[in-house]
Amino acid sequence: MKPSILIVDDDEVMQESLYDVLKKGEYEVYSVGSGSETLSVIKKNIIDLILLDMRLPDWDGLELLKKVKEFDTEILVIIMTAYSDVQTAVSAMKSGAYHYINKPFDLEELKLLIEKGLERKSLINEVRRLHRQQNEGNQKSQIFGTTSQIHYIKELIGMVSKTNKTSVLIQGESGTGKELAANAIHYNSKRANKPLMKINCSAIPDSLLESELFGYEKGAFTDAKATKKGLFELADGGTVFLDEIGDMKPFLQSKILRVIENQSFMRVGGEREIKVDVRIVAATNKDLESLVREGLFRKDLYYRLKVMVVEMPSLRERGEDILLLSNLFIEEINREYGKNINGLTDDAKKIMVQYPWPGNVRELKNVIERAMILTEQPYITPKQLPFELRQKEGYDLKAVELNPFEISEMMPLEALEKIHLSNVLKKLEWNKSKASKILGISRATLRAKVKKYHLSDN
Ligand SMILES: Nc1ncnc2c1ncn2[C@@H]1O[C@H](COP(=O)(O)OP(=O)(O)OP(=O)(O)O)[C@@H](O)[C@H]1O
Ligand SMILES: [Mg+2]
Repeated sequence: MKPSILIVDDDEVMQESLYDVLKKGEYEVYSVGSGSETLSVIKKNIIDLILLDMRLPDWDGLELLKKVKEFDTEILVIIMTAYSDVQTAVSAMKSGAYHYINKPFDLEELKLLIEKGLERKSLINEVRRLHRQQNEGNQKSQIFGTTSQIHYIKELIGMVSKTNKTSVLIQGESGTGKELAANAIHYNSKRANKPLMKINCSAIPDSLLESELFGYEKGAFTDAKATKKGLFELADGGTVFLDEIGDMKPFLQSKILRVIENQSFMRVGGEREIKVDVRIVAATNKDLESLVREGLFRKDLYYRLKVMVVEMPSLRERGEDILLLSNLFIEEINREYGKNINGLTDDAKKIMVQYPWPGNVRELKNVIERAMILTEQPYITPKQLPFELRQKEGYDLKAVELNPFEISEMMPLEALEKIHLSNVLKKLEWNKSKASKILGISRATLRAKVKKYHLSDN
């Protein structure tokens, strides 16, 4: 986008000559002759810089300057004053003007001043963007854990990050932190200040995936009314994260291989070779080797990716991290939800440690989050942990909590029945004949169930 400049001067000759000069530069130029017009222009357009004459028919220049700065502090203002008016220039600088220039002035001097001002502004913006990105990067790429497996992973990621072009394959069960590892690789590499573009290959239909990855040329298909850049182009200089690459179709796999080998590709429907500098990080929870054997994954791409493999360990292989991560998530959720939970009771800890965690860290995080929503006590007890975690203890129907939020995917049918019965009875204020009609069972059956589940109306 071109930088935009607004000229504010009631002297028409001055206004026009400035307009003509600046229009020749790479600027979007606006010009007005009064304070009120100035305000309406900045409200309707993004203005980067204002050249402001201090003597206007309707507004005092200083007042106008303050109004402009109040509306948007980022607008640079260069004021134009009469040679003798030093006092105004000083006051304007104090009110936030970027610079001043005395009339009559040398046009070259003014152009230089404008260039410098805009350059400084874009530098400030770039620094801010980098700061933001860095904070984000730090937050999203911290791998926690104290077990030797995690130390090894961190070291490996450190080494992988130093190589700049080599593709990386991250393998691991679901929820082991594959995306986290991809973030860490990007943000610890020289590419950290360039984009990290992510795509989940299993979530998008094949034809769409192709144009998402490579973009398309105008007219490539009926809906392609204009050219569109794909992920590889947008990530230039940075990293492309191909999540669930095991689900990618072979025709796309060969295109990926071409990008790795030639650092170039063509948009869908295009004939232009487009050069890019990207590193590919791919992840999968499938066994690519057996997919290769079944002919579902291209051998050549597999060997390309296999050069550098990061294998994320499952949570059950590193049991000691279970409690550490639990505490970490408890703190995180305390902050997020304004809760004040101190931790897990010893019984709850035992259950957490013996559970095999098929969904790994993601599952652990969900369990903690759910438990924290359910509890008002200072500690998480076994009661707030889902059934599937407690199964090993032997499941006790009497102990089923009558809490509708207790319903979980993996619970025994009887427990579900108990909760449902209790909800219906409560709602009908224990009118058993109404309840039996709604439940579609006889009153005798209902009575038997109430007895079986130890339900009562107090
Ligand atoms: N070592 C770790 N330290 C802190 N948080 C972690 C760690 N490992 C995973 N997580 C967290 O667990 C969640 C799941 O991680 P991530 O999405 O990276 O896993 P994944 O392997 O990509 O999972 P999936 O296979 O389900 O896509 C995220 O919220 C992530 O921040
Ligand atoms: Mg993932």
